[in-house]
Amino acid sequence: MLLYREDLKSIEVLSKAKDILAEQPNAKQEIQWFIRNIKNCTTLDLYSNIPISKKDLEKINLFITSKLNDVPFQYIVQSASFWGRDFFVNENVLIPRPETESIVVHLKKNTPSGRVLEVGTGSGCLSITLELELGISNITATDVSQSALVVAEKNQKKHGSSILFVHHDFLNEDFKNKFNLVVSNPPYISKNEMTNLGQHIIRYEPHQALTDGSDGLEFYRRFSKIGKSVLSRGGRMILEFGGFKQKDDVLSIFEDYLCSIINDQNNEPRLIEAVYE
Ligand SMILES: C[S@@+](CC[C@H](N)C(=O)[O-])C[C@H]1O[C@@H](n2cnc3c(N)ncnc32)[C@H](O)[C@@H]1O
Repeated sequence: MLLYREDLKSIEVLSKAKDILAEQPNAKQEIQWFIRNIKNCTTLDLYSNIPISKKDLEKINLFITSKLNDVPFQYIVQSASFWGRDFFVNENVLIPRPETESIVVHLKKNTPSGRVLEVGTGSGCLSITLELELGISNITATDVSQSALVVAEKNQKKHGSSILFVHHDFLNEDFKNKFNLVVSNPPYISKNEMTNLGQHIIRYEPHQALTDGSDGLEFYRRFSKIGKSVLSRGGRMILEFGGFKQKDDVLSIFEDYLCSIINDQNNEPRLIEAVYE
């Protein structure tokens, strides 16, 4: 760790921190961003060698320890970007992924009207973005995790949205209302695949947000089973799934619906749109 001295300045701190974190991917940019953030200064200020106080150094040392322990950058700074907005995140919610923005891209081409349901809202990033970007005003967003809902409500206040967040176990409870659109990025990693994930994911992201503890398809079976009682006639579900390897299985689960597959920004199959005709 870095030791404090009265004359400690930013160039030395930055250079030593970069040496310690040399093996960590992206750490050079991240430590620079972090010091700029705590000093509330520009990169130019950093390189004009501003003083580093004892308190600043404690924060920098904490950042370094967290990085060495594989803590994701977003959890250290408690912020993650989704569709250009910053969302509060902690270890109770999944870090938003760019693939999920495909749902926003798709709905921008065909804005829904009526009632919208999101299942498994996590940080609330998707529902809040749909409200703010598409002007959808009637969104109910659920999660089985109470601590995730606390984060979603914090983001709701931060961004000034009016979503109804509800505690609900999708796999075991029914819905009282009908919806015109259901969106979800459900946990779709299979129990077996969990072992292939990086340490930064396995050790820090909530497992309940990643996997169904089975073959990764439990949520799609449930959506297919209850979809027609949850959707109004003509309504649709737009669900994220795990790309090429799940496409055929997901399509066969929704064979009773009118289906289309939508690719993500990397041209990988990412969403299924299932319409209740
Ligand atoms: C992949 S994360 C998606 C989070 C957020 N929508 C996003 O895209 O960043 C899946 C979410 O589903 C929630 N979840 C897991 N099991 C659930 C269940 N049985 N009922 C409702 N939500 C559930 C998790 O807590 C988690 O927040």
